[in-house]
Amino acid sequence: MFVTAGCAGESPPTPTDPQLAEGQGIYQRHCATCHGVTGGGGSAPALAGRMTERFPDPADQLALVRNGVPGTGMRAFDDVLTPDELDAVVAYTRDAL
Ligand code: HEC
Repeated sequence: MFVTAGCAGESPPTPTDPQLAEGQGIYQRHCATCHGVTGGGGSAPALAGRMTERFPDPADQLALVRNGVPGTGMRAFDDVLTPDELDAVVAYTRDAL
């Protein structure tokens, strides 16, 4: 079987869960430039592995992504993504990164 070696900066494997797979696509298009393709951070803080601790209530994280953080690079996404897309990308950062 052919094994593709994961290079740094390459997208992680697509999750099998359809919502997480959708969330990954959205994440790569809208979030990865600042937060890193694997969520390890970059110009913005790392998200990988710390969202459930940082936001015990997913609603708080959803609100942050919807409204952004004024005065920082974190823009509001409520006029960019649909409610379903917002749910999907938040689920992806919590459950797959
Ligand atoms: C232009 C760069 C940029 C993009 C694109 C971006 N962010 Fe951010 N994000 C930031 C910055 C900068 C912060 C830190 C804000 C602060 O100082 O509190 C942040 C903070 C966050 C936080 C809070 C992290 C924490 O520990 O408090 C979350 C969650 C988040 N972003 C999710 C996303 C998601 C999801 C997307 C895509 C839909 C996204 N971001 C796109 C720059 C970006």
